[in-house]
Amino acid sequence: MTADTSMWYCPKCGFVDSLRKYFWRCPKCGGPLDIMYRPRWEPIEGRRGMMRYLKALPPIGAHVTLGEGGTPTIVRDVAGIKVWFKLEYLNPTGSFKDRGASLAISLASELGFERVVEDTSGNTGIAVTAYSRIRGLDVTIVMPETAPQGKKILCKLLGANIIEAKSRGRAAKKVMDLINSKTFYVAHTWSPLFIEAAKTLAYEVYENGFRGNAVIVPVGSGGLMLGIYRGFRDLVNWGLLDCIPKIIAVQGTSVAPLYEEVHGSPPSTTTSSDLADGIMVPNPPRLKELKETVLESRGDVVLVDNDDIVGALRELLHSGFIVEPTSAAPYAALVKAVEAGLIGRGDEVLIPLTGSGLKTLKIFEALLST
Ligand SMILES: Cc1ncc(COP(=O)(O)O)c(C=O)c1O
Ligand SMILES: [Zn+2]
Repeated sequence: MTADTSMWYCPKCGFVDSLRKYFWRCPKCGGPLDIMYRPRWEPIEGRRGMMRYLKALPPIGAHVTLGEGGTPTIVRDVAGIKVWFKLEYLNPTGSFKDRGASLAISLASELGFERVVEDTSGNTGIAVTAYSRIRGLDVTIVMPETAPQGKKILCKLLGANIIEAKSRGRAAKKVMDLINSKTFYVAHTWSPLFIEAAKTLAYEVYENGFRGNAVIVPVGSGGLMLGIYRGFRDLVNWGLLDCIPKIIAVQGTSVAPLYEEVHGSPPSTTTSSDLADGIMVPNPPRLKELKETVLESRGDVVLVDNDDIVGALRELLHSGFIVEPTSAAPYAALVKAVEAGLIGRGDEVLIPLTGSGLKTLKIFEALLST
């Protein structure tokens, strides 16, 4: 492979093809694809945000950007643990999904697609719509009826056609009817572009001075977790870090496929975690890789429920962090990770705060009355 060759590649069956074509999954075996390219550590002087690390990202062409990435890091002492909060909710459309949307829509536009379609519970739809509209692409978002009202409204106002489905599973089925040769199906739960983009979060905290030993990260499809892991792995490969931090994945008690995969049995509790809509992904396509990543990093999966999330959310709001309920899940997991001996006093831990609470004010209203 030469430095400027980049290819889709399937780790399962070995399929490879040019990035000048688009595949949302492997056309041979149906598995999730990766991108084969050579990331380079050459941060671009004077640039901030994701565009600073273009040399470490798949070469796609002209980038559509709204200034994603470069989010602030706030360090606080929480019960003797130094916590690095990465304020991903301050991205242009209010979530870390802007990083992946920037890469995915850049590729859609570069390859000449006219329509973009996606199934999502919210944040990805908002990000994908905003980036697509900049390039004049037509966008259709299929959302479960249960998606937070604020997220649906924002998607519509940004210019998406919204189709509602009974559930997340139904949305995934419905979106298949919309795919043809002119539509770019983002498929963020499958997409390696969202993983590659999330690597830049690790690069940024490294440049901010993070040398901690653990990351607590919410896991739905696991794109964020895999991205952070691969970002730290790059930094180790480039000789900039000695080791990859331990990955502590956080799932909700109601939908916990990674927990089941790692622990070999479903959660013993029957409490609900439906406040964390962003991590309710029953069948993440990369489940095996997620398990391997958690185990390789000597980490674990920690469960939280609605009560844990509400408590953590109140604390975060009172600390000035205006985040959505899903984003409170890793903070709720901090105490549990300490109790489980995964982290201890004196440790330094990264917690990405993934999505903005300004989209979930209706949910906050309900919480205020309890
Ligand atoms: C706010 C928020 N946090 C975390 C996640 C989980 O991200 P991933 O699907 O990459 O695991 C999502 C996904 O939609 C989200 O919206
Ligand atoms: Zn394959």
